[in-house]
Amino acid sequence: MKSASLVVVAFAAIEGIEGFLSTSLHRHRPSPGRDARAPSLSAASTEGPYALLFDCDGVIIETEQLHRLAYNAAFREFDLKIRNEPVEWSVKYYDVLQNTVGGGKNKMFFHFRNTTGTFPSSGDGGPVPTTPEEEQDLVDRLQARKTDLYKELIAEKAAARPGVLELMDQALADENIRVGVCSASTKAAVTKVLDVTLGSERRQKLDVCILGDDVSKLKPDPLIYVTAAERLNVDPARCVVIEDSIVGLKAAKGAGMRCIVTYTTSTENEDFYALGCDAKVPELGSKGVTLDMIFGPMKRDGPDAEILVGVKD
Ligand SMILES: *[C@@H]1O[C@H](CO)[C@@H](O)[C@H](O)[C@H]1NC(C)=O
Repeated sequence: MKSASLVVVAFAAIEGIEGFLSTSLHRHRPSPGRDARAPSLSAASTEGPYALLFDCDGVIIETEQLHRLAYNAAFREFDLKIRNEPVEWSVKYYDVLQNTVGGGKNKMFFHFRNTTGTFPSSGDGGPVPTTPEEEQDLVDRLQARKTDLYKELIAEKAAARPGVLELMDQALADENIRVGVCSASTKAAVTKVLDVTLGSERRQKLDVCILGDDVSKLKPDPLIYVTAAERLNVDPARCVVIEDSIVGLKAAKGAGMRCIVTYTTSTENEDFYALGCDAKVPELGSKGVTLDMIFGPMKRDGPDAEILVGVKD
């Protein structure tokens, strides 16, 4: 008897702690009633919950050029040379990299293995790495230095793209919509970006934040979005992703989600619709995109409804 009641007390204590944690850490924990109902909802049901997931780089802020400058600065510091030529990524070539591989280390591996076919020498004509371990070590050190240089640039220059904070705030205020950030960039870099652009208060309200180091496969693999849907316990068909690149679009569609692409001058000519994009807009702010333009049709007509009607390109 005594031990049984102790167990009950222990459970009550755990429940109490959980209750405390969930109310203090989570903006809106789904009620047990809603969870219990969810599995019996038909696919066409328009009930929530829904989720709005933001990519970071290119969507929340335009970082492409800052990343490129930070890489080139790191390459210069390491005095990287291939066939006696300094390694430097042009605007045009960085666009190609952006549209080919996710994650900074993968970009370097792609450059050295697929584009130039050789790793560079570094510092005072230091030797070219010969083993996969040496190659990995060089790329790791370059990425670490690049991240530091990038954080310095961000602290000086970062600001959110027009309309992003407004849309995020509308979503955060809607208890039927979960909000998250899913970025392939390294945690140190993206954390800095989010601190500067969103501010810590808004950041803490996010229901999920999955960063490059948190998943084993980077975009275009859908894993990051699959993981987000699982953590949020939201049907992928009810998740809307905002992306800016083909790599991100493929990840979102691979996870079975809706995807809005906000493009920039470097990506405006890509055929996003051919790859399953649900709506293409230049910028959220310039088109006055609201939460209702996205989720209104889905709530009325089901998760497959056309979104951003009259607003998308
Ligand atoms: C880079 O080259 C490797 C080996 O040839 C190949 O398997 C891989 O698919 C290439 N990567 C890309 C992104 O094209």
